[in-house]
Amino acid sequence: MSPVVIRSLLAASLALASTASLPAQAAVDCKRVKCVALTFDDGPGATTPTVLKTLRKTGAKATFFLVGKQVEKRPKIAGQVLAQGHAIGNHTYAHISLPYYHDDRILDELKLGQRVIEKATGHRPKLFRPPYGHTDDRVLALAAQTDLAQVLWTGTTLDWKLRDPKKIRAAVLRLAKRDGVLLLHDVVPATAKALPGIVKELKKRGYHLVTVPTLLRGKGPVAGESYP
Ligand code: NI
Repeated sequence: MSPVVIRSLLAASLALASTASLPAQAAVDCKRVKCVALTFDDGPGATTPTVLKTLRKTGAKATFFLVGKQVEKRPKIAGQVLAQGHAIGNHTYAHISLPYYHDDRILDELKLGQRVIEKATGHRPKLFRPPYGHTDDRVLALAAQTDLAQVLWTGTTLDWKLRDPKKIRAAVLRLAKRDGVLLLHDVVPATAKALPGIVKELKKRGYHLVTVPTLLRGKGPVAGESYP
């Protein structure tokens, strides 16, 4: 083979390798197919590996909003979330209700969350979710300063309150809709238990389970904007 051929072959295989390692699902176009985004807050926790296992087995992708303090306790699991092709976002450092605090504290929460997540995973999140969904224009402006887009949800399962796999599964199926963003918690054991049934039924109903960035493709995420 000529050096030119070898070089182009090398370039092609490098391009392939970098595509394979992309966290986003390049193949799924949510404009053409029915998509839904499962999102998991408050981890990583003790049941996060169970959630990851189910997602890996089924080829489903999800988005995890990580709490900085939790990432410090389980940095390895945070790394695994990203390595498996899921999207990660910042759920603040200490899981506080942001609008109750001064600008400096809000910025500290966002920045420290970013730092801890980046240290554990090598990736700086583009997304954040305010704890309890508590947010306002000031929080959003401070998120813009931190290069973060806000992600809320279209449906919340209240899985932490239900604590029953059957009820959680029913809640997800009731809330599921095209381009929906559903809020769950990977730290709730009943959610981890319910997940195989949830994924199976959503797939049966024709949904592609994608990350939030895949769902937003073409529309964002843009720092300082709020989705969906
Ligand atoms: Ni939370």
